[in-house]
Amino acid sequence: MGASDGIKGIDAREFRNALGAFTTGVTIVTTRDAAGHDVGLTVNSFNSVSLEPPLVLWSLARSSGSLASFVEAEFFAVHILGARQEALSNRFAKRGVDKFAGIDLARGHGGVPLLDGCAARFECRTAYRHEGGDHEIFVVEVLTFEHFDAAPLVFQKGGYAVAVKKPPVKPVAEDADAAPEGSISRDALIYLLGCAHAMLLSKIRPALRVRHLDDDDYFVLNVLSAGAPRSLAEIDALMAYGGRSVKSERIEALARRALVQRSAQANDASPRIAISDAGRQVMLEMAAISKAAEEDALQQIDYSETHLLRNLLKRLIRNTAQGVPALWPAKAERAADAALPASR
Ligand SMILES: Cc1cc2nc3c(=O)[nH]c(=O)nc-3n(C[C@H](O)[C@H](O)[C@H](O)COP(=O)(O)O)c2cc1C
Repeated sequence: MGASDGIKGIDAREFRNALGAFTTGVTIVTTRDAAGHDVGLTVNSFNSVSLEPPLVLWSLARSSGSLASFVEAEFFAVHILGARQEALSNRFAKRGVDKFAGIDLARGHGGVPLLDGCAARFECRTAYRHEGGDHEIFVVEVLTFEHFDAAPLVFQKGGYAVAVKKPPVKPVAEDADAAPEGSISRDALIYLLGCAHAMLLSKIRPALRVRHLDDDDYFVLNVLSAGAPRSLAEIDALMAYGGRSVKSERIEALARRALVQRSAQANDASPRIAISDAGRQVMLEMAAISKAAEEDALQQIDYSETHLLRNLLKRLIRNTAQGVPALWPAKAERAADAALPASR
């Protein structure tokens, strides 16, 4: 928080922070200079101006290395970036690098470079230029435009963000809809998360049945396919977090089917159990099936919402999980565990 009494002596950082409260999309503006070089930079000062005639604007810092090229250029293209194009945005915000290296380009009016994968693209011609302090303001006429089915990249408070549509505000819940007193609410996370988990699992259960595996077998193989060989007690401790347990009979049954293997050391009081090649093959198939089930469940939920959902779930797990042992081992541990002498 900060305020300034007047324009003189304005705190530049505070001014930037205040402006950062205005959420924008992110664009890359490109052109081709007189020598035939491709030029471009990341810009969030883009805005719509007029529908008739179709005009948009953006502003370019006078300190920009691209100023002369854009002042001289007749044509250029504005690309509204998609949510997956953060790396491209960063690349075009750097100075002194070949921003176009290795990028497949199409060509537009005047040979201007056109980038792929954006949410929308406008080919433009400069209509007016105005002085805007330390920036040059370009008001440009739109010649052609396209828009695509990609969630937009968002910039807010100095960082990238995702845009998620708010559901319409619901009228106050009617009595018929309210949960009876003492019962779990329909909006309780424990209900919603449990339900979502159960539904997703039910989608892949038929594929488990075909492979003569039940839910607990699947959890054991999941724990082991995450990498590290584990003792029975370690597997049991990991399963306990999901309210499950494992007994040695289950491991033996999986070993008889050559889906797991045990360490070969004689008199080993607590043999380590690893997934076998056959077990890994089954889990590869199951990974594809569970990915398909996930994609099906995420229908009509766009990239930004999915991204947000995953991140919020991770934060929720971090906030609630005290002392959960890591399912995925650290890199060094993974290398050390790579070779396990097998008894079967
Ligand atoms: C999200 C974001 C938005 C930006 N918006 C603008 C802008 O509107 N105008 C501008 O001149 N620079 C903007 N920049 C900075 C330029 O992309 C950056 O200075 C770039 O290095 C300029 O390249 P050039 O000197 O090769 O032209 C932005 C950077 C980022 C990351």
